[in-house]
Amino acid sequence: MSAPVRIGIIGGGLMGREVASALGRWFVLNDFPVQAELVAVCDLVESQREWFRQVPTVKLLTADHHELLASPEVDVVYVAVPHNLHQTLYLDVLKAGKDLLAEKPFGIDLAAARTIARAAESSGRFVRCSSEFPFLPGPQRAFQFAREGGVGTLLEVRSGFHHSSDLDPTKVANWKRQVRTCGEIGVMGDLGMHAVHVPFRLGWVPRRVYAQLQKIYLERPDGKGGMTVCDTWDNALLHTDLEVDGRDVPMRFEMKRLAPGETNSWFLEILGTEGGVKFNTREPKTLWTFQRGKEQTWNRTDLGFHGPFPTITGGIFEPGFPDCFLQMWAAYLAERAGQLGDRFGCVTPAEAVRSHELFAAALESHSEKRAIECPGDS
Ligand SMILES: NC(=O)c1ccc[n+]([C@@H]2O[C@H](COP(=O)([O-])OP(=O)(O)OC[C@H]3O[C@@H](n4cnc5c(N)ncnc54)[C@H](O)[C@@H]3O)[C@@H](O)[C@H]2O)c1
Repeated sequence: MSAPVRIGIIGGGLMGREVASALGRWFVLNDFPVQAELVAVCDLVESQREWFRQVPTVKLLTADHHELLASPEVDVVYVAVPHNLHQTLYLDVLKAGKDLLAEKPFGIDLAAARTIARAAESSGRFVRCSSEFPFLPGPQRAFQFAREGGVGTLLEVRSGFHHSSDLDPTKVANWKRQVRTCGEIGVMGDLGMHAVHVPFRLGWVPRRVYAQLQKIYLERPDGKGGMTVCDTWDNALLHTDLEVDGRDVPMRFEMKRLAPGETNSWFLEILGTEGGVKFNTREPKTLWTFQRGKEQTWNRTDLGFHGPFPTITGGIFEPGFPDCFLQMWAAYLAERAGQLGDRFGCVTPAEAVRSHELFAAALESHSEKRAIECPGDS
């Protein structure tokens, strides 16, 4: 068996720990061609670093990302830090000659995303961006259904991600609520990559966008007894036009931090004249499909546990967030090893730049209250 790919993490917060969880149970993947282990973690905060002491394979804990990047013991680096740090840290990873799994939104804005994508290209390193929900069985089936033409003539697409915890005005603000650290694109930077990954991979690139953006709570508790400004967009509805076979098709992206009743609902709906498909993480093993017939019927299929990469988990069990995150990592490392085959892959730098082009056009649309053309394929 070949030596494990050695992973380092920069940013040991919410997502850094999810990576430790995924790599810590790598052995559940059946006959997977690549071994992987977490060997190094960098975080500025000591308590964040200390959490990783319980991971037996971790040999280096540091507050200085240059120290992690200088280590010859690290092959691939995953970076999960606030958005204002993406460009600097991603470029440092590439300069150090390491491969990169970057967290979304791949830079704080369009200029940063373009700079990172250019650096990725010229470095020759393997770079992808994180978006895990499409690796659940439901989205995989929806993707195949659409790719194989199951919908007939496309009528409309709706893709989005809804959260609700920000409905609580007493929720303490963090870096995701401020433009300086999260970016002007706000909720689009937080949730947008999740919404666009599958449509973009199907080749569905918006031609123009009309955006409705909302800021509801303009300040929140700062966690130290005072209040602090919250200046990012909370909710974003992007009404876009997609051109398919010379016809405009409506495609709506919905990203909401204030969606009553939704804890973490990623969803995708694709409707056509012959068939349709709907999936929502609220029902994680359920796929709804429609096929035109004499009667109007949506069929519910219990998909069970069938990710793109087989695991030891029984086929009747329910998949969840840690499972799709593990599958995304498997896709990243399989593709890096040239073994992805025709399976679904992680977001490419070009797709990440395209998402920023859409979000930049959405900001312009909202401020001018009109539809804005999106850059084409060039
Ligand atoms: N894929 C997903 O589902 C998903 C979910 C949440 C967040 N994210 C993305 O992950 C990234 C991080 O978000 P999070 O929720 O994990 O944030 P977080 O605040 O929980 O963690 C960020 C960590 O980075 C550390 N940090 C900050 N500056 C650093 C530096 N210079 N060097 C080393 N460590 C540093 C902080 O101390 C903190 O522990 C963001 O890009 C975010 O958009 C992705």
